[in-house]
Amino acid sequence: MRVICHLVEDRLLDSDDLLGAVSDAVAQLTGSWALVVLDARTGRMVAAAHRSPLLAARSAAGIFLASDISAIGDWVDEFHILADGDVVEVTNDLVWTNSGIPAVVPAPIPRPPRPHFSLTVEADDHMAAEIREQPEAAARLLEEVGGRIATGELWNDLGLPRFDRMRVVACGTSLNAGEVIGSALSRLGGLGHSSVVASEAAGSVVEPGTLTVMISQSGETADVLRALEEGPQGSPVLALVNNVHSTLGRKVDAVLSCAAGPEIGVAATKTFVCQVIVGTGLVISALVASGRMDVARAHRLVNDLYLIPEQLAEAAAAARALLPPLVEEVRGAKGFLFLGRGAGVAYAAEGALKLKEITYRWAEAYPAGELKHGPLALVEEGTPVIVIDDDDHRLAGNIAEVRARGGRIITIGRPGSSVEVPLSLAAPCGPLAAVVPLQMLALGLAVELGFDADKPRNLAKSVTVD
Ligand code: AGP
Repeated sequence: MRVICHLVEDRLLDSDDLLGAVSDAVAQLTGSWALVVLDARTGRMVAAAHRSPLLAARSAAGIFLASDISAIGDWVDEFHILADGDVVEVTNDLVWTNSGIPAVVPAPIPRPPRPHFSLTVEADDHMAAEIREQPEAAARLLEEVGGRIATGELWNDLGLPRFDRMRVVACGTSLNAGEVIGSALSRLGGLGHSSVVASEAAGSVVEPGTLTVMISQSGETADVLRALEEGPQGSPVLALVNNVHSTLGRKVDAVLSCAAGPEIGVAATKTFVCQVIVGTGLVISALVASGRMDVARAHRLVNDLYLIPEQLAEAAAAARALLPPLVEEVRGAKGFLFLGRGAGVAYAAEGALKLKEITYRWAEAYPAGELKHGPLALVEEGTPVIVIDDDDHRLAGNIAEVRARGGRIITIGRPGSSVEVPLSLAAPCGPLAAVVPLQMLALGLAVELGFDADKPRNLAKSVTVD
């Protein structure tokens, strides 16, 4: 095995052509990589990438190379994306080649808008600012797409064929959003859906008439890109991303933006909310366009979507007022259970993921009915059990089971809950507002325990490795 710099160095023994040396070296590589080679003797620099994001940008402030525009957005207005096989020398300009042949610099892409929020004294981390921004992000998104849902345009404009079932492929929080979106398709339109963890998608069977929806806020997640390469088996692929110029956005049949704006905190918050809203809007739009839902019903559902920004704001206010003593009470707990039923299950999963991601506490999410099939054994005196209470009458029995074992029940939802948030069993996105207290519980506990919520240990914002 040779390290890459030695491959380059060998070639430089015969010539001082760094660009040619890097082109020759990368031709011998396999796998996925993005690299910048600096010749310490001359200061020359050459960049190359293969199945891994890398972009280049020029501005009065200099020339930049980065894997994500958000890293350099303060200094540049537009950028160029390196395609597989591109090798670029950075001089006073960008000298573009592909497979050793001079190439035209690809068309510049305008930098996406900068974050809409500013950090304040009471919210001195990005995650807090992004949670706070959710009502505004949801309102912006609805302003952009709301008028095109019930007309069927949101779906028709994508140019995709009619479908009979949906297969969501994603990871982490995006997978949880996909579960909400898929279950909306089943609930509202009676069509089937499945959710597949992207890293396990290779073996899954895709039936005819399936629309594959790949969801990824970054659009650079290696597991999702691999699932795309390994084959959606003839199924058209729609990407739901926060960056339409991302690798995923460029490689699929159609792309839809969740338009959340830049998200800096590693823990996804506003992108989740925006994915759920635009994905649910898409489902409604597709059902109308295919004649499976009448326009009047679609309008009623869109009106429900327009209530979301206010509901998110109310949920945040309730959480701000009611969570602090609860956080104090559970700060010593080693493990947490999150329960929901129906549409609430995906939100319970999201609450558990947020908590483990930034507080390093064990957290398990289950459909509440599963308690008695195993996880109830985990409940002991004081174990925090967080319940998404969207008024499903079956929850009362599950709550009683936990209380009988001394578990500390924290309910989020209907009137009388530990944290009351506006939820409705009939809402197209299910109990979406419940996610705000769940995010704030995780953040509050992380802060209480002295952890940096924006940069959780062992995790990255964009997971570009398999
Ligand atoms: C979310 O809080 C996590 N950081 C993580 O689960 C994330 O959702 C996952 O890695 C998928 O990322 P993507 O949406 O960029 O594909």
